[in-house]
Order: sequence, then C-alpha cells, then structure tokens
Amino acid sequence: MAEQRLKTSIAILGCGEVGATLAYTLLQNPICSEVILVDPKKELLEAQVRDLGDATYGGRAATKIRAGTHQEAGQSDIVVITAGAKQKPGESRLSLLNRNLIILTSIFTSMSPISPHTILLLVANPVDVLTYFARKLSGLPESQVLGTGTSLDSARLRGILAQKAQVSPSSIDAYVLGEHGDSQFVAWSNASIGSTPLHLALSDQLTDEFKTDIESHTRGAAGAIIAAKGCTAYGIGNVAASICKYILFDSRTVRPLSFFQPRFSCCLSMPAVIGRKGILRAMPTQLDGDEQKLLEDCAVGLRAIIEGAEKELKADDELRHALEKHA
Ligand SMILES: NC(=O)c1ccc[n+]([C@@H]2O[C@H](COP(=O)([O-])OP(=O)(O)OC[C@H]3O[C@@H](n4cnc5c(N)ncnc54)[C@H](O)[C@@H]3O)[C@@H](O)[C@H]2O)c1
Repeated sequence: MAEQRLKTSIAILGCGEVGATLAYTLLQNPICSEVILVDPKKELLEAQVRDLGDATYGGRAATKIRAGTHQEAGQSDIVVITAGAKQKPGESRLSLLNRNLIILTSIFTSMSPISPHTILLLVANPVDVLTYFARKLSGLPESQVLGTGTSLDSARLRGILAQKAQVSPSSIDAYVLGEHGDSQFVAWSNASIGSTPLHLALSDQLTDEFKTDIESHTRGAAGAIIAAKGCTAYGIGNVAASICKYILFDSRTVRPLSFFQPRFSCCLSMPAVIGRKGILRAMPTQLDGDEQKLLEDCAVGLRAIIEGAEKELKADDELRHALEKHA
C-alpha cells in the first residue's frame, strides 16, 4: 500500500509513432516510476514494450515500462492520449474528428471510473476539439484536462526566430496561440528576445513579409514532414514529455496549452501556468487589435465544429437507442 502511494505513473494510450516516441523520451529522461502503454493492437503493444524495454538496460533504468489496460491507465497520475487516426499527406487535422471522437468516447468508457486526481493530456488531433470533449466525457475538473495545443507550433516558432536572430531558442519568448491548426496565429505584439521586444531586437528584419513567411513556415511545418515521412513524432514526443515533467514536478512553467476558455466555450491555446494540478491559472495576455480579432475568429470556428460534433453525437445516441428498442 505504502509502495503504491510512492509510485508515479504515466499511461500512454496509443503506442504508434507518437506514443512510442513519447515513451522513449520518458525512459531516457526519467521523471516517473513507470510508463504504462495501452493499445488495442496487441502484437504492436507487446513489441513496443519489448523494444522500449531494451532501451532501459543500459544503467539508467529508473523508469519501468509495461503494457496495461485502459482501467489501469485511468488510475495513473497522467494519462496521455495519442490514440487515434493520424493525417494522411495533404489531409487536415479536422478531417480526423469523426474517427478520433469515436475512439475518445470508447476510451473513457473503458477507463471508467477514472481517478479524480488524474491529469489528462490530449495529443491526438484535432487536439483542441478533442480536449473539449475529453473534459466533458471524463467529468474531471477543467484544470485537469489539457491539450498540447500550440506548444509544438511555438517551439517551431522559437526555433526559426532563434536562427534569424542568431540567439539560443531558450532566449526567445514568442507564442503561437489559438488553434493547433490552420487558424492559429503568432502573438507578435508581445514577442521578445530576452527582455527586448521583438520589434527592437529584429528591427531591421521584422517586415510584414518576414512575419507572413514565418507564420506559413510554422503553420505548414507538420504537413511538410508528414508528406515526406508519414508522421511527426520527435517534436511532439519531446513537447509532451516536457509537459508531463512540469506537471509531476509542479514546476509552474508557463506554456501555451489548449484548455477550456469560458469566454469562448471551447478549448484553444493561451499561455497558462502548469503544475501538479494541471492548469493552475491562465496568464493574462495582452494582444493587439488584429491579434484579438484572430483569436475571436479562431474561437468562433472551433465552437462551430464542437456544435456540429455535439449534434452528430446526439443523433448517433438516438439511433442506438432506437435500434436497441427495436431489437
Ligand atoms: N498535437 C500535436 O501536436 C500532434 C503531433 C503529431 C501527431 N499528433 C496526433 O497524434 C495522433 C497519433 O499519431 P501517430 O502518428 O502516433 O498515429 P499511429 O497511427 O502511429 O498510432 C495511433 C495508435 O493509437 C492506437 N489506438 C486506436 N484506438 C485506441 C484505443 N481505444 N486505445 C488505445 N490506443 C488506441 C492505434 O492502434 C495506433 O497504434 C494522431 O491523431 C496525430 O494526428 C498530434
């Protein structure tokens, strides 16, 4: 019993490209006692556990890896949801919604009853819409349900701005906000390098054309990688592992994450303080007029998608009840 309380576990639902890369990252940089992998593809699951296990015998075996059930996952400190279909080359993230919402619904049925202390981290796409539904389906407080959102897009933005400014990426403070998708935008008005506003630090480069180029690079980065290799895994694996660390270490780090925005009634990315209880608080963010409009448009688009999906779920439910009655 005492041993159980000391254990910290991260469950990863879905051990495809992203889930396995996240597991590998967590084994290489140990932050918990065990990583539990769950996937309905039994052969793949066993093979991934054995292959990943082989990576733990080199001396730093602080974290154990094993296969588990959805029920066990639901009792973990963090459940990371990578389960679901991924984009084919040229496909949008939103086109995955129907398939991944069905998977998400079945996951919560299989995990029930989920521990009231679990933090849910959504990775599967479309991540903002799935984060919204995960919050509803899990019944957990909204602070405990978050999505990776635009953290990966923001990391890419930091990377390219660092190259342009010839400084380390960790010196760049700049965020992509809104949807992890086509309506995302860069909050240029509050970007800085060190404490120097970007318009001063890059005064000779920061034209409208420069901004448009960077935005399309950031927005199109995933599509270009998927077109060439069929998936993206390392960037998101690293981002998700860092978020798990911020949670378990209660580090109170500020990152752009997808979480419920009462003002818009949807989940989208804004800067938040992350700690052991999930989203500890939203950071007040000052946007200029154009950025505010982009944020509102993005929220309206996401809200419309949520309403469409809710109607479909209701219609499916009614059909199932009618069929059950008829049988
Ligand atoms: N948020 C981001 O920034 C980001 C980045 C990259 C990928 N993604 C998304 O992550 C998801 C996974 O991508 P991938 O490349 O790993 O796909 P993948 O097809 O390689 O793996 C998905 C795995 O989920 C499993 N799965 C299906 N139903 C399940 C269930 N009920 N429980 C547990 N596992 C289940 C499948 O069997 C499969 O092994 C996709 O939706 C992709 O779009 C998100």
